[in-house]
Amino acid sequence: MSIVSSVNHILPIAASMEPPRLQGAAISGLGFYVPDRILTNSELAERVDTSDEWIQSRTGIRERHIAAPHEATSDLALIAAHRALKNAGVDAADLDLILCATSTGDYVWPATACIIQDKLGAKHAAAFDLSAACSGFCYGLATAAGFIQTGAMKKILVIGADALSKHLNWDDRSTCILFGDGAGAAVLTPCSAGCGILSSTLGSDGSGLESVWLAAGGTRTPITTEVLDKKLNCLAMRGKEVYRFALEMVPAAIYEALKRVCRSPEDISLLVLHQANSRIIEAVSERLGMNPDRVFMNLDRYGNTSAASIPIALTEADEQGRMKKDDIIVTVGFGAGLTWAVNVIRWN
Ligand code: COA
Repeated sequence: MSIVSSVNHILPIAASMEPPRLQGAAISGLGFYVPDRILTNSELAERVDTSDEWIQSRTGIRERHIAAPHEATSDLALIAAHRALKNAGVDAADLDLILCATSTGDYVWPATACIIQDKLGAKHAAAFDLSAACSGFCYGLATAAGFIQTGAMKKILVIGADALSKHLNWDDRSTCILFGDGAGAAVLTPCSAGCGILSSTLGSDGSGLESVWLAAGGTRTPITTEVLDKKLNCLAMRGKEVYRFALEMVPAAIYEALKRVCRSPEDISLLVLHQANSRIIEAVSERLGMNPDRVFMNLDRYGNTSAASIPIALTEADEQGRMKKDDIIVTVGFGAGLTWAVNVIRWN
């Protein structure tokens, strides 16, 4: 849908001076894809000074999937997108927008979403990338919901996709053990008010820039041989800072998002937190007073897949029948930026 038609849609409402009636925005289809290659903790222990026991006890991760040399982020995203569209019963040609949350796009520019738009044959879709690291998919859900709730668009594909393995220092045991590659996608369509995405709380704290980042390759620090020698082209992280940030910000953001729709943690049927570390997930759940049976976890098999973690988790939760009509599902992303994002969803 073009900008012109969306403006036309809003004008009659403004002219009649009636407040705009917001409709709902629901997730009507989900899908994910991870590359075939599985990298176990034991294999990593052959490369760096670590062990399966250390990784499992500190992170909860057993294995992760790694993209092949020829596989780029859009390749993973495309398969996830096809699966989500099929699941939703939506034709790519009917999409109004493709929004790809990623920190590991195929190119510096243009957007990976444009590559996906072309390969899907989504002829009528606008396309852009969203950069909010591991919070990207939840930022994307909030953005897409806004377009649908105002009536500007009807069918939006939100993708979270990352291939962080391409940006890791495989000699750094403090980071290379944590991440995996993958993609997940959700199709958003209109629904009745009071259903679908009920509220979103988004936040950022740029003072935490260096807590987890990829310093080189942008306009501040272009790639030089010195940069490559120092491995500044690889992800760097101060793990303890990120850990503390997550425990400080995430529970507060969840309370805030729930408060906006007069809900509390007791109302949550399933909490789908960013799959970064099982200890973070357990500590956050404890602070909310939630038992593990209402908290989703699959990071043992995928590691931290960044923007893909939430849509992969949502798809698996759906396949396992863990989300029923009218359930309150809370999705939470947090990560580089620093950024965080919470969506409260009434499932339908
Ligand atoms: N294997 C074995 N030992 C390791 C190791 C590994 N893979 N990585 C680090 N260590 C060592 C350290 O060198 C340190 O040794 P020392 O005591 O001799 O100096 C020791 O283990 C403890 O390291 P520390 O960094 O204090 O461990 P930790 O308990 O904080 O766990 C993380 C490290 C990364 C697992 C943890 O900080 C974390 O998960 N943080 C959040 C990261 C995250 O989620 N990032 C993504 C956000 S989207």
